[in-house]
Amino acid sequence: MTFDTIYQYNFPTTIRFGAGTSKELGEYLLKNNLSKPLIVTDTTVAQLDFFKEIIDDLKRKNISIEVFNNIHKNPVKSDVYNGTEAFDTAKRDSVIGIGGGAALDVARAIVLRVNHREDLFKYDDLIGGDVYVTNDVPHFITIPTTAGTGSEVGRSAIIADDDTHQKKILFSPKLLAKIVFADPLLTMDLPPFITAATGMDALTHNMEAYLAKMPHPICEGIALEGISLINQSLEKAVNSPGLQSRSKMLIASLMGAVAFQKGLGVVHSLAHPLSSLLDIHHGLANAINIPYGMEFNIKGFEHKFKRIAKALDLKDETGEAVVKYLFDLNSKINIPHKLSDIGVLPEHIETLADLAIADFAHPNNPKPVSREDFKRLYLKAL
Ligand SMILES: NC(=O)c1ccc[n+]([C@@H]2O[C@H](COP(=O)([O-])OP(=O)(O)OC[C@H]3O[C@@H](n4cnc5c(N)ncnc54)[C@H](O)[C@@H]3O)[C@@H](O)[C@H]2O)c1
Ligand SMILES: [Fe+2]
Repeated sequence: MTFDTIYQYNFPTTIRFGAGTSKELGEYLLKNNLSKPLIVTDTTVAQLDFFKEIIDDLKRKNISIEVFNNIHKNPVKSDVYNGTEAFDTAKRDSVIGIGGGAALDVARAIVLRVNHREDLFKYDDLIGGDVYVTNDVPHFITIPTTAGTGSEVGRSAIIADDDTHQKKILFSPKLLAKIVFADPLLTMDLPPFITAATGMDALTHNMEAYLAKMPHPICEGIALEGISLINQSLEKAVNSPGLQSRSKMLIASLMGAVAFQKGLGVVHSLAHPLSSLLDIHHGLANAINIPYGMEFNIKGFEHKFKRIAKALDLKDETGEAVVKYLFDLNSKINIPHKLSDIGVLPEHIETLADLAIADFAHPNNPKPVSREDFKRLYLKAL
């Protein structure tokens, strides 16, 4: 990096991290005079025991509860509009997101929409929409229940258009949660497939952030430690989970999201079209593409792959060894190596390449990626 330029670095919100922190929610609400939260989650999480315990505890404290859980797997604009209606109708004073990245993104978009009623996509960051986020937003609290997106510490929400399925990013520093209760106990019973897919999303965030173009030594340090923690824990969290591995994965996913304010790269641009076009889970899409995307990035960045290899404790400190590690890790956690294994067909490739080149993530990749490169990478992964 050069030291003749001024850079801006932002760091996130208060994080209460550790087994049992979700039990602090009720006291926190009372202390902050919040008595009418809208709780945003999804229909699966709403059925889980820990969710019911959280609700029961709030009720015991005479806190009025309204739950909104009617959201899509890849959230869309109408989810946000319906959630905002729930906020208005039940006269809420705050928003609590409890869930994976999908629920947390919808919660964050509702936080935006409450006092910003133009068309939601007017606030799309890619067309400079963040400048319209000028009004106050309700008090926002996040409680992650997957260890993957790190959306709990993020300032953006990824929401798709109902019809075109194109993903838009709503962004503003105002959309940071006031506090995160990161409780690994809530992730203890995550099924192996979700643990694997979300965990690979977290690994992709850390690796792509470390490699991303923007000079940001603070984030690079966080990303390398995130990679190391995932190396120590993902396989265990999938195949024989315990508090130790769940905790390491939860903090590493948070670190990935802190690190990726530095930028992401080619792998996320390969992954996003698979979710928008074919509804494939975001983490799974990253998991399959990461070995191919990393292989693409090696040449010219061997020095950076050496640091990644060190973080992974590899004896062979080459980019090729990192790629082999990624294929091996996918095998150990039952992630397929090929896109054809998850229903991608040769006739999808042209459309996927069109969407990938239009995606927001790859301009921060350490080297430029062309439409031809995307096509080649999809064909290689097919
Ligand atoms: N805002 C950001 O910075 C950011 C970054 C990356 C991805 N995303 C978005 O995040 C979403 C993906 O999030 P995700 O990977 O967490 O998946 P998810 O939110 O879709 O959750 C995956 C599945 O796990 C279930 N689940 C969640 N917690 C559980 C628990 N504790 N026990 C059992 N089941 C549980 C959910 O019901 C769901 O079926 C995508 O919409 C993606 O666009 C956002
Ligand atoms: Fe991601």
